[in-house]
Amino acid sequence: MKKAFIFDLDGVIVDTAKYHFLAWQKLANQLGIKFTHDHNEGLKGVSRVRSLDIILELGNVQASQEDKNKWLVQKNEEYLSYLVDMDESEILPGVLKVLEYLKSKNQFIALGSASKNARPILEKTNIMHFFDAIVDGNDVSNAKPDPEVFLRAAQLVGVSNENAIVFEDSVAGIQAANIANMISVGIGDATVLHEANYNFKDFTFIDEAFLSQLIG
Ligand code: G6P
Ligand code: MG
Repeated sequence: MKKAFIFDLDGVIVDTAKYHFLAWQKLANQLGIKFTHDHNEGLKGVSRVRSLDIILELGNVQASQEDKNKWLVQKNEEYLSYLVDMDESEILPGVLKVLEYLKSKNQFIALGSASKNARPILEKTNIMHFFDAIVDGNDVSNAKPDPEVFLRAAQLVGVSNENAIVFEDSVAGIQAANIANMISVGIGDATVLHEANYNFKDFTFIDEAFLSQLIG
């Protein structure tokens, strides 16, 4: 039976988590709010709108909807400015090898990301062809840790939740996978992602033996 391997995007497939951080930090500084790497952990996997609210809460800043909308546009423009020259070199180490291996074993590959910029990023990095299904921030109304994004991805490829494996770099994403009864694989700091079923520092530590065990 084919399994569904569902990948988060930012911080898992591409090294864009650092650009999200820089863009949020710039906005926070402008608003006089101190925003550190530690604060940023809580924003990973979280939607754009919710991320802004978290930052404003951090600085005890009250704002009109009009201001919020303006800042959301500003943050996204700053973020996109980092992606102008994006190409395959932005794909994180070991990811391509894993995608190729899963394809060669005829497994389903899906994207489950909160980002509304997911599709252009997959195009720029030339990996769109690997994906049997894409669910991104434009397709869901409930943000991680709500499992909606992963449930829809598994549904699209017709695989039951127990036969889906999620790769995530965010706490919210690992929780979403666990709530969905999927196998969760944390990519990054195992201390931060301790709720995951498996942990790897990055994809170079994921070998064929591990993948074939998941394929079953
Ligand atoms: C991902 C990232 C977050 C980002 C969110 C929305 O989940 O981990 O840092 O804020 O997507 O991304 P977007 O590209 O739509 O602003
Ligand atoms: Mg992520």
